[in-house]
Amino acid sequence: MTVDLSPLIDVDRGLISREVFTDAAVYEQELQQIFARCWLFLCHETQLTRPGDFFTTYMGEDPVIVVRRRDGTLGCYLNSCRHRGMRVCRADAGNAKVFTCTYHGWSYDTQGRLKNVPYEREAYYDEIDKSKWGLTEVAQLDTYKGLVFATWDPAAPPFQDYLGDFRWYLDALVDRRAGGTEVVGGVQRWRFKGNWKLAAEQFASDNYHAPASHASAVAALTKNVDKEVARLGKNDGAQFSSDLGHATGFSLGKNLEHKLLGRGFPRVLVDYQLSVWDEVVERLGEQRFIGPATSGHANVFPNFAYLPGFQTMRVWHPKGPDEMEVYAWVLVDRDAPQDVKDAQRRFAQLTFGASGALNRTMARTGRRSSATCVVPSPGGSRSTTRWASVTNGPTTTAIRVGWAGTPPSRRPGPSTAGTAS
Ligand code: FES
Ligand SMILES: [Fe+2]
Repeated sequence: MTVDLSPLIDVDRGLISREVFTDAAVYEQELQQIFARCWLFLCHETQLTRPGDFFTTYMGEDPVIVVRRRDGTLGCYLNSCRHRGMRVCRADAGNAKVFTCTYHGWSYDTQGRLKNVPYEREAYYDEIDKSKWGLTEVAQLDTYKGLVFATWDPAAPPFQDYLGDFRWYLDALVDRRAGGTEVVGGVQRWRFKGNWKLAAEQFASDNYHAPASHASAVAALTKNVDKEVARLGKNDGAQFSSDLGHATGFSLGKNLEHKLLGRGFPRVLVDYQLSVWDEVVERLGEQRFIGPATSGHANVFPNFAYLPGFQTMRVWHPKGPDEMEVYAWVLVDRDAPQDVKDAQRRFAQLTFGASGALNRTMARTGRRSSATCVVPSPGGSRSTTRWASVTNGPTTTAIRVGWAGTPPSRRPGPSTAGTAS
């Protein structure tokens, strides 16, 4: 049954019911209408360099295998045996010639083709048509400057159309230098309580939380920073929100050195950014270099997020309405010196790793937001009440804030839908 969302969302007043974060039926609808149809981030190409390299992840709640096939192309398959549905690959990553199901031993090659069925003559009288029993493949797969995306929907628009104007901002992350990007340090994974949309919305548009939520962590990171430098590093920002659901925000100040030092970046990373100034400015222009190539937050609809500068890149895998699993990568310029890559990896872990100083406050916020979201609906029909009902708490959440109101004339990039102030 389709859930009618219209009573839960008041676009004109900028209000949504908290049920969109807690209701199981809404969540099921999201799996079908969003995660089964959108382009979803899978991994970075540099994770899969050799034939047979694979990485296992999720599209929505569906487990998938991404693999470099023998012909050099990438494939992505549902990680589910066509016999009785067991996973055919139980490793996080590795290299394989075939994927063999551990239940009855059916095996599939890197093209997803069923290659071997144990006791084929005795069990199936040699009548099974193996060409019909390959792994289920995604409908479309595309790479964009090293990032790998796929969709289950054969009717989905091509990936670059799906990105639309947002490509201008994404390029600030992945097209800074001639060599492109690579991921370093593997993939960190952790689960935390909270609805996936809380995280996606925060990375899309909520810099409003940072001064309060991250105050103590930022104070610790910047305790040795000169107060005047920190003051000069403060500056205005801009916000871009695409009609297609992607969004980002970033700061615009001219003084890149002060801006980065004022946010606690180690000297080696600040010096690196200054050293590549000419090259990046030539590729992206000065505004993009100072803005979305070195600061900010972003979310590509529905659940792929990143933080320029901090260089964490992540997916919010939904695990029910009240839990998510994060897969997080550290992205670096491939042409950067090794000591810079090492420093970037350490700084990303210190700040936004699983136990990073800035990440921990976010995990706490997600948990508490979900708890407070469990409130009665206006009609009282869906009384999944906890403490909020006792205090007669509000049933809606404000989704607009004034901070995002960058005048269109000051937005450096496409501005088809700057968020309203
Ligand atoms: S479930 Fe995979 S071989 Fe039987
Ligand atoms: Fe944050």
